[in-house]
Amino acid sequence: MPHDLVIVANRLPVDRVEQPDGTTGWRTSPGGLVTAIEPVMRAGDGVWIGWPGGVDVALEPFTHDGMDLVPLTMSAEDVEGFYEGFSNGTLWPIYHDLVAKPEFHREWWDSYVAVNQRFAEAAAEHANPGATVWVHDYQLQLVPRLLRTLRPDLRIGFYLHIPFPPGELFQQLPWRREILEGLLGADLVGFQLAGGAANFIRLVRQRVGHKTHRDLVYLPDGRTVRAAPFPISIDAAGFEELARSPAVTARAAEIREALGSPRRVFLGVDRLDYTKGIHARLRAFSELVAEGRFDVEDAVFVQVAVPSREQVEQYRLLRDEIDRLVGRINGDHGRIGRPAISYLHSSYPREEMAALYRAADIMVVTPYRDGMNLVAKEYVATRFEDDGALVLSEFAGAAEELRQAWLVNPYDINGMKAALLEAYAADERSLTRRMRAMRRTVTQHDVKAWAASFMTELSDVHTHEKAVRPARRS
Ligand code: F6P
Repeated sequence: MPHDLVIVANRLPVDRVEQPDGTTGWRTSPGGLVTAIEPVMRAGDGVWIGWPGGVDVALEPFTHDGMDLVPLTMSAEDVEGFYEGFSNGTLWPIYHDLVAKPEFHREWWDSYVAVNQRFAEAAAEHANPGATVWVHDYQLQLVPRLLRTLRPDLRIGFYLHIPFPPGELFQQLPWRREILEGLLGADLVGFQLAGGAANFIRLVRQRVGHKTHRDLVYLPDGRTVRAAPFPISIDAAGFEELARSPAVTARAAEIREALGSPRRVFLGVDRLDYTKGIHARLRAFSELVAEGRFDVEDAVFVQVAVPSREQVEQYRLLRDEIDRLVGRINGDHGRIGRPAISYLHSSYPREEMAALYRAADIMVVTPYRDGMNLVAKEYVATRFEDDGALVLSEFAGAAEELRQAWLVNPYDINGMKAALLEAYAADERSLTRRMRAMRRTVTQHDVKAWAASFMTELSDVHTHEKAVRPARRS
């Protein structure tokens, strides 16, 4: 049945998993995108088109937990070329400041085009006349244009969840023009930060040659496209409510006790990704232990690493590297029943995450580059007693809003060590002052406000254009 709102994202909110007994079940998909869009879907009457994970999984549209889902099948070649290849071996490193080296393969690009075409066709099929289609993230940048060709009647929004790089990096892409033109199929292109939107507008002017004025692009066919920042957020009230629940409160106490009731618990929670700076933060912590600034009886680091993209070479190497580092740190500095680092390579449900956030005195989020980082916001939302410290990378989008965190440069190990020490020793008044301000930001700008502002802009985009259209375009 066609819908008035169609969400298109590479992944469905749930991933199909084989259980040990041979049956199949569903598990929440990893990553911030799903966390953010799920409440939007629940609030409206939309349909979500995406990949249910796995290879050659052919399923009919179904309803899960009250959401209408349309699964798209991927073959082994699609997974290799479109997902692991072009999306995560080419685009991901380029869009994250070349933290790893991108690879360019023409077959990967061909696969990216073909899979984007299939997503566009599915969206065209499930949209009512004049419906709104909201396309998400770097895996689907060609969909807006392909979809507009199929269905010019639709209102199309696109949102990029990861950073949009400066021209110097983006221009390395052999298919840079096609990607820009793909995005220009949308009426509104949303970014996390103003910097990303400005990079996009500049590239469109320089590389595609379209006229632009402020945040608008004027296309030769008379259409305009707006590019603007919409910093994403979380369901802050939902997280707080969960954190206040007796079950989570009890579990948080249990976690602290299991860790040996140390004076301070440090926590890191990330997808196991080389952009997240896990290695650098564990090194900074372990050096403080080695130097005797922290004693393992007083300070424990819990690192949760959610398995991710395990078939991609760079991710396998990272996993080995972190395993080795944790083993070495614990071997050198741990005592019986007191590892310096408690390392968990697994994903956990929301309740367990909320308990971990509540159990942690110092949350350490140190990506080399990150679109936003919702973990930082989740931690803040759960600290309803206005306590706890956040150590946050300057290179996470969240740093533009959470100014009261201990902001660090993840490339500067000594700087991170100093911040960890300061957060460890901070007095209650300073913690309260900082956390209260950050909580205000996160509760006022929650995911509902984010989705509502994107949707309002999307429906207003043409009105807006008339209001600001200059007499002569630059
Ligand atoms: O937020 C970035 C993102 O790549 C999402 O698009 C994605 O769903 C999530 O991280 C997890 O990555 P993946 O879908 O590759 O497991």
